[in-house]
Amino acid sequence: MSGEDVHGIERDEPERDGEPLLSLSGVDAGYGETQVLRDLSLSVREGEIVSLVGRNGAGKTTTLRTINGILHPTTGTVTFRGEDISEFDATETAKRGISLVPEQRQIFPELTVLENLQLAAHGGADDAYSVSVEEALGMFENLQDRTGNEGSSLSGGEQQMLAIARALVAGADLMLLDEPTEGLAPYIVEDVMEIIADINDRGITVLLVEQNVQVGLELAGRNYVIDQGEIVWEGSSEELRDNRRVLDRYLGVSV
Ligand SMILES: Nc1ncnc2c1ncn2[C@@H]1O[C@H](COP(=O)(O)OP(=O)(O)OP(=O)(O)O)[C@@H](O)[C@H]1O
Ligand SMILES: [Mg+2]
Repeated sequence: MSGEDVHGIERDEPERDGEPLLSLSGVDAGYGETQVLRDLSLSVREGEIVSLVGRNGAGKTTTLRTINGILHPTTGTVTFRGEDISEFDATETAKRGISLVPEQRQIFPELTVLENLQLAAHGGADDAYSVSVEEALGMFENLQDRTGNEGSSLSGGEQQMLAIARALVAGADLMLLDEPTEGLAPYIVEDVMEIIADINDRGITVLLVEQNVQVGLELAGRNYVIDQGEIVWEGSSEELRDNRRVLDRYLGVSV
């Protein structure tokens, strides 16, 4: 079975292709005394696009921070390529090829597009997939015309593209994307979705956090629904599309 409620029902963890690239197992995490994630388990296999969808404040960003080492689990483990990375900091996870593109898009507003990309080429991952600055500019046409523009002068969509381009230049085998389409005009959302599909075609595994469930449904093969720090449902996009109850209850949308 799959696509059923997690509560009280046995879960179908698809481990048939061997060990997942990333797995969280029984993770509790939060901020100081505030526990946000509760017994959270999820896994992502190499080459997948997996979405983590949920409402405002559900714990999506906290999950990504716990994966890349800004936060650490108080209980449970985070494993990447079979290695326990629960206590690694963000520099150590980046070296191993985990790249977080945060909600705030973290580009340098006073540096030009070119400088932003050149800076990303230093540090980053040891042996992960990466592209040169020139290749990155080739992938993102709208950045190519703006190499001399300051980051702050870019539109929201361009800043998102630049943030993803920086992650590609720094190197990533697993990209954690935190609401990449938030606040973007619909036609830019399409562009960002194409870029995500493109980076996945290049072999990069993607864990995509979205409030916009449509984006998850279109891009991801599997989806996890998070509510109040717990995974409350998981299943394929077809199953989620048909599951009005989950869509209504946890995501507040009808598709
Ligand atoms: N730095 C912090 N200190 C204390 N509590 C925090 C902090 N950041 C987030 N929280 C709380 O943790 C919970 C989960 O927040 P989180 O940012 O993970 O949600 P989210 O699913 O990413 O939401 P959104 O869709 O709004 O980005 C919320 O209740 C939030 O108030
Ligand atoms: Mg968030």
